[in-house]
Amino acid sequence: KSGVKGLVDAAAGGAVDIPEIFIRPPDELAEDLEVTRTSLRIPAIDLNGVDHKQSSTREKIVEEIKQASERWGFFQVINHGIPMKVLQDMLKGVSEFNDLDVEVKKEYYSRDPERMVKFNTNYDFYMSRAANWRDTLVIDMLNSYHLDPEDLPSVCRDATINYLNHLTKLVDILFELLSEALGLETNHLKQLECEKGRTIACHYYPACPMPEQTLGVSKHTDASFITVLLQNQVGGLEVLHGNQWAQVEPIPCSLVVNIGDLLQIVSNDKFKSVIHRAFGNRSQARTSVGCFYHGVATPPKIYGPIKEIITKESPQMFREFTVRDYMMKFYSRRLDEKSGLNYVR
Ligand code: SIN
Ligand code: FE2
Repeated sequence: KSGVKGLVDAAAGGAVDIPEIFIRPPDELAEDLEVTRTSLRIPAIDLNGVDHKQSSTREKIVEEIKQASERWGFFQVINHGIPMKVLQDMLKGVSEFNDLDVEVKKEYYSRDPERMVKFNTNYDFYMSRAANWRDTLVIDMLNSYHLDPEDLPSVCRDATINYLNHLTKLVDILFELLSEALGLETNHLKQLECEKGRTIACHYYPACPMPEQTLGVSKHTDASFITVLLQNQVGGLEVLHGNQWAQVEPIPCSLVVNIGDLLQIVSNDKFKSVIHRAFGNRSQARTSVGCFYHGVATPPKIYGPIKEIITKESPQMFREFTVRDYMMKFYSRRLDEKSGLNYVR
């Protein structure tokens, strides 16, 4: 219950070995050798001027988002309007929570699906072949849209509420831009309530003595419509691009946005939900906050490929589904199934 950080703290003088459960299986390590690392970086998109509807600046931004969503499934946004202090306070809140005494953190320790705010190591353990070098505070809002601030740990309460309020405005803009990038009316994705449900994962990756042997997050795609990720300056996130791993270079004050499975489905395969993973760092702890926008799960709402996008040349690629159904399939798929998308093909 003391998490991965507890393990590291308990090794007096600093751990040099990591417990076996964290070591990735040999064939998985071997697989890495076949995929080279590239010096390519995911696209960075400057949102400055985005509020000027129908301006050439906005058109340029929409085009960049379209290219990035089709080719990379990932991009970073800069000049997105969220003040630096708000981002810094959020990341500081995550570190401070993890620095608390085990006795205090224990109150939040849970794997109960009914509990909204919970702290655990490897909530995705059953989806991974080795344990991940990571502790996570999760705010699970699949069952309810209302977050009571009192449920959050006090060290990061105000920072979290403040960050999420700012993020709401940015995400509205992102869904507008993504709608336009799909050639739809500005409000199309908003009308589907893609931004409505969200789950927040605050990750803490302690400094790791053997970062090449284990992973902070194993290979996966996200089940969301989109995910917005805030990270500190340590780095370690990698995105599969063709058969190469591209690094996500931390840019101060930027946010990483990626397309999840649900948007790949409703965009009828136009936008790609791409595999990514994260490494720990040998000397520094890494913090990140992922916010997964997964639409309306309760009461069940039917989603499917957007009719306006389906044409003779681009016939319907997926069937209709509900978010809860998709999540169930996604989280219960076999370890060798790289994606949940086949369930709705
Ligand atoms: C994730 O993809 O789930 C986490 C990514 C990160 O912390 O960089
Ligand atoms: Fe992810």
